[in-house]
Amino acid sequence: MDALDLIVNRASVPPRLHEEADLDDAALEQILASAVTAPDHGLLRPYRFITIRGKARERLGDVFAEAARIRNPDAEPGTIEKDRQKPLRSPVVVAVIACITPDHPKAPEIEQILTAGMAGYNMVLAAQAMGLGGIWLTGAPTYDVHVQSALGVRASEDLLGFIYLGQPKRDFKAPRRPDWRDFVTAWGDDD
Ligand SMILES: Cc1cc2nc3c(=O)[nH]c(=O)nc-3n(C[C@H](O)[C@H](O)[C@H](O)COP(=O)(O)O)c2cc1C
Repeated sequence: MDALDLIVNRASVPPRLHEEADLDDAALEQILASAVTAPDHGLLRPYRFITIRGKARERLGDVFAEAARIRNPDAEPGTIEKDRQKPLRSPVVVAVIACITPDHPKAPEIEQILTAGMAGYNMVLAAQAMGLGGIWLTGAPTYDVHVQSALGVRASEDLLGFIYLGQPKRDFKAPRRPDWRDFVTAWGDDD
């Protein structure tokens, strides 16, 4: 698949369509290597990634469950269990963290967050290029201080979400996309 095809036919693959089998180390390394090619004003490298695999996913699930219980002490056990199971849905979960340099003279905070976001997107795209499935998910756990603290996210950092990766169970098709014309105007072209 060429690069343009890959982008135009990009599709996230949700965890329910991921095989249980773990990814090869080499595949994950390639995905992570693709993250650090994101455009980066000032070359600040304003990101870091935490991989969660194997048994560590169970520990993260316990953290998600505890966080859900703290958020809502009256939550039904089923709801808590749902959160506990989340990291187990895919063999590899990668937490994406933006590491912000405050008051940078060239790259304001929003640019640094964009760079970290593009790094995450690169991973989803690289996974697809390698025939793997990936999806970026946030949900309540991402914005939960208990989860952030368990992952060691510092005050100067933002947890941007989790990329779930796995071997796809079946072929997937790109969803219907909007017409790009609905989002584009040509400025200064009206005479
Ligand atoms: C920062 C970010 C967070 C997201 N969080 C969620 C989420 O928590 N739950 C969800 O269903 N989709 C979430 N999505 C959307 C999916 O990653 C995905 O884009 C969506 O399912 C549409 O599929 P597509 O990427 O193939 O168009 C998120 C996307 C981004 C960029």
